[in-house]
Order: sequence, then structure tokens, then C-alpha cells
Amino acid sequence: MAQNLKVLQTILILLLQDYNSAEDGEIRASCRTAPADLVFILDGSYSVGPENFEIIKRWLVNITRNFDIGPKFIQVGVVQYSDYPILEIPLGTYDSTENLIREMESIQYLGGNTRTGRAIQFSIDHLFAKSSRFLTKIAVVLTDGKSQDEVKDAAAEARKNKITLFAIGVGSEIEEDELRAIANKPSSTYVFYVEDYIAISRIREVIKQKLCEESVCPTRIPVAARDEKGFDILLGLGVKKKVKKRIQIPSSNAKAYEITSNIDLSEFTRNVFPEGLPPSYVFVSTQRFKVRKTWDLWRILSLDGRPQITVTVNGEDKTLSFTTTSLVNGTQVVTFTAPRVKILFDEGWHQIRLLVTEVHVTLYIDDQETEMKPLHPVLGIYISGLTQIGKYPGKEETVQFDVQKLRIYCDPEQNNRETACEIPGFCMNGPSDVGSTPSPCICPPGKQGLPGPKGDPGQPGNHGYPGQPGPDGKPGYQGIAGTPGVPGSPGIQGPRGLQGIKGEAGRDGAKGERGFPGFPGLHGMPASKGERGPKGDQGPPGIYGKKGAKGEKGDPGFPGMPGRSGEPGRNGKDGLPGSPGFKGEVGKPGSTGPEGRRGDPVSVLTAEILGMFY
Ligand SMILES: *[C@@H]1O[C@H](CO)[C@@H](O)[C@H](O)[C@H]1NC(C)=O
Ligand SMILES: *[C@@H]1O[C@H](CO)[C@@H](O)[C@H](O)[C@H]1NC(C)=O
Repeated sequence: MAQNLKVLQTILILLLQDYNSAEDGEIRASCRTAPADLVFILDGSYSVGPENFEIIKRWLVNITRNFDIGPKFIQVGVVQYSDYPILEIPLGTYDSTENLIREMESIQYLGGNTRTGRAIQFSIDHLFAKSSRFLTKIAVVLTDGKSQDEVKDAAAEARKNKITLFAIGVGSEIEEDELRAIANKPSSTYVFYVEDYIAISRIREVIKQKLCEESVCPTRIPVAARDEKGFDILLGLGVKKKVKKRIQIPSSNAKAYEITSNIDLSEFTRNVFPEGLPPSYVFVSTQRFKVRKTWDLWRILSLDGRPQITVTVNGEDKTLSFTTTSLVNGTQVVTFTAPRVKILFDEGWHQIRLLVTEVHVTLYIDDQETEMKPLHPVLGIYISGLTQIGKYPGKEETVQFDVQKLRIYCDPEQNNRETACEIPGFCMNGPSDVGSTPSPCICPPGKQGLPGPKGDPGQPGNHGYPGQPGPDGKPGYQGIAGTPGVPGSPGIQGPRGLQGIKGEAGRDGAKGERGFPGFPGLHGMPASKGERGPKGDQGPPGIYGKKGAKGEKGDPGFPGMPGRSGEPGRNGKDGLPGSPGFKGEVGKPGSTGPEGRRGDPVSVLTAEILGMFY
């Protein structure tokens, strides 16, 4: 009986809680809802072909299904282009995902040349400029060939308008430089390439993640030489102001905060994660603690205090749990029990890293992969509750511990770049092991990268010029040991490379059409009357009027009128501009002036002067 009552009570509480959430109009914040204007610029040129164009449409629909469409959320526009761009779907025309998708499915393949630059400019002028929403603006350019017009200026114009450009290249005709010129920097984030249209479905998830990062992770964390999209949770919770005591981690340059029980590290979630979290992310925390109980290192609570996301340290059984939302049950909990997890409880400094993806969560301890667990699909988080660190479950009491960093990186790739340099002694197995200097921390080379060939023992060379930073390598396998060389000192990071040289000028435009003939020249002026000479012989016959001046050059032809915008729905083609006209022909000679009056006889001198003018 008591048992039944308890169940009933639980159900009632759950119902009430859901009721409360609905009452507050609380929505789950995530990529589905993060407001953004998103425009797809699709290549509809001949090289694509009608079959592939159908694949593109399906891909577009698949991506769109990940978003909640509406004036408060995401709006999607579509431009198809070949010689000229067509406004297939203006931004904000549909307020439901289903209607938008129906419209996408009815897009007709165009065929023609590839004028990508023009299409980008068109999207700025006719889609983004028409949207009055002040928020994340993203354009995705999908192309399978080299553009027949200039893309650089249009791309620069887009960036000036705070539009983030992604470029997706399909097939072997693609010019990588052009994709890079279109897309934002770094190219590793904003340029994608697939070998054919069939393969395009494979980049659906990563595109979804990247689009999401743009709208959900507006803040940047400086890491090494780059700025990573993400959230510095310590910063978000005001740790600098709230915690007075700093600790220097021995044999590392890292500083840590000493958290005591009279400090409260809480903040409204909407101030820390205003749009929730992306589908994949990396959680990183470096801390040490003595407490033997169970406590939440980090948690996001709903308004009524239910855990939505937590990283829980189980002091009793020396395990670590990760709680997150779940489509199945509301929440799901995975517990890491690998033997290595126990080292977290040795009271020393350790780095906990969780790589969370849509299907797995993987625990790394001190940069070493420790355990991977499957995840059910998650829901967005409610953002009207609190985000906290260092709290006992179900309590507001703060745990005593020291923390050096606590972050969320939005790019899952950061899991491969993150080091554990702040952990004392951690990096001493790196190259500096040979020498006797214990610091500064010199970390082992990044992961991946191919195993290098066996090296000859080299003389220390002269310092070369710093090269451009290369792309991040994959973790390499250990190479075969070479003959020991002279230990070099760690190099300093090179300066940024020089800017590339300007490209060649484009070809001259085609010759313009012939202009209209010039107007006939003006009538010549009648000759001035000769001076009366001394009476003499009969003078020469009177002078004819001067030949008319050359006619003026004809005006260039008028440019063609731009096409009128069509009825709502498809826009009309832009008219082609008229080419400039040819130089006008030489005007016809002016008509003969009226006959001069027969002059009086002229002196020889005057006649000579007059002669100079003819
Ligand atoms: C679209 O989604 C369906 C179902 O998930 C999948 O089978 C298909 O391959 C996807 N197509 C593209 C082009 O992404
Ligand atoms: C859902 O909840 C039930 C009861 O609370 C639990 O037994 C089950 O394991 C949960 N399922 C998942 C997928 O978390």
C-alpha cells in the first residue's frame, strides 16, 4: 500500500513538474531552436545533372529536419544558381518545417553555367538584406565546379555583412582555392569536400554540428594559437570575483582556484548556455580533491532542481558518472568503472575529459582514453534553471576542491588538440625527458600524423624561417628511434606567414556593340568678310565656309534593363547588362556654308594669311 502511494506520489510530482515546465513556456534550448538565418546556395549547373540535383534536395531536406523552423527559431532560404540565381525560397516564408520541406522538394533543376559569385551576391542582396532579424547569419554554398565568375568580392561582401560562409565542394572538378576563398577561416572548419553526390549524405552530421556551433557557441576560448568555440564555465560562474585564493600547480605554469565551502559557484543557465549545447562537445576539467563522498563536479539543473546534465564524482565506489537528457526517459546516466578511474581519487591533480557525441560518451583521464559508453539520443536542455560546479547532489552545499579549468569546447575535434600540460609531471615523458630541465611543460607531439621515416643523426641546423602553421595532424605512431641527435632547445612559435600574392587580372571583356552614328557636325561658319584692300585688280572669288568640325563620339549603348521581380514565388531572371557601344563614326561633314559674298579685292598679304587657315 505504502509502496503504491509512493509510486502515485512520484507520478503526481512528475506530472506537476511537466505541467510547471509547460506553464513557464519553457523550451528546450538546442540547435533545433537556436535562432539563425540560414541560406543554402545550390549549384544547378549542367555538370550537376537532374539525378544528382534530386540527391542535393534530399540532403537539404535531411538537414532541415534537424531544425525547428519559425520566426523565433531558424529560418531557411534557398537559392539555386547557374548563369543567374533564382530565389527558390525567401527567408522566413514558412513557419513550419513540413511546409518548408514541401517547398524544397518542389524545386526544379535549372541547368546552365556556374556563376557562384553572382549567386552569393544575390543572396546578400535579396535574402539576408531582407531579413530584419539580428542574429546568426549563415550561408552554405554547394558547388561541383569552378565558378565562371569572381567569387572573392562577393565572399568579402558577405563577411562584411557578418554572414558566415561554408563551402561544400563535390567531385573532381572542384578548385580548392576557390572553396577557401568563398568560406570563412579556418578552412578546416568551413570548407568541406566530398568525392561525389552519393557521398554527400556522409557530411550531413558534421554540417549539422558545424551549423549548430555557429548559433549555439558564440563565445571563444583562447587556446594555444587559436580561438576555440566554447564556454569557459569558470568564467561564466564568475570564479575570478568569487574566489580569492589562487594556487600555483607545482612544476607547471598553471594557476588554480581554491574552492571552499563558503563559496557558491552558481549562475542562471541562460547566462552561461543561452542556446543550450551542440549535439557533440568536449567537457574538460582539471582538479584535485580530498572529499570521499559523491559530488557533482558540474551540473545543469532544471528550474525545479532536477539534474539535466551532470558530471558526478562517486567517492564511495571510485567511479565517475555522466548524466544527460534522453529522448527515451528524460534522463540517462552512464557510469565509468574502468580501473584507471580510481586514480582520480589519489588527491593529486588530474584532467577529466568527456568527448560527448550523439551516440557515445568517452572518458579520457590525463589525456588517456579510458572508457567509452553508448548514449541514447538526447533532448535540448531547459535553460531557466541553474548551472553549478562543486555541489553535493540535491544540495546547495559547496564541495571543497581545487580547480584549474572547467570548459566546454563545441568542436569535438578539440578532443584531439587538448593537452594535459597543466598536470604536474605529465609532460615529462615528452621530448624534454632527455634533458634535465623539468619545466616548462613540453607536451608530446599531437596525436595522429604518419610515422616518420628513420632519421639520420643530424647536425643542429641553422634556424629556418618559421613556416605557416600546418593543419593538425592525426596522432602518429612512434617512429623508429634514430641515432641520438644533439638535444635542441624548444623552438619558438613562428610568426604568421606572409599574405599570398594577388591573383592575375581577369581577361578583357568582349568588345562592345557598335554605337549609333554620331550627329552630323554643325554648319561651318561663314567666312569673315575680307578687309577692303586698295583698289586693285579684281579679287579672287569669295571663300567657302569652313568644313564642319568632326562630329562628337556617339554615346555608349544603354545597359539592358534588369529583369522585373516575378510574382511571389520564383523571381524573374536578371536582365543582362548591355555591352558598351563602339566609338561613334566620324560625323558627316557639315553642310556647305552659304556662299561667301564676293569679296572686294584683297591684298596679297591678307590672302596669304587667309591661306594659312585652309
Ligand atoms: C536522408 O536521410 C535518409 C534517412 O535518414 C537517408 O537514408 C538518406 O541517405 C539521406 N540522404 C541524403 C542525401 O542525405
Ligand atoms: C528508464 O527508466 C527506467 C525506470 O526508471 C529504468 O529502469 C530504465 O533503465 C531507464 N531507461 C533508460 C534508457 O535510461
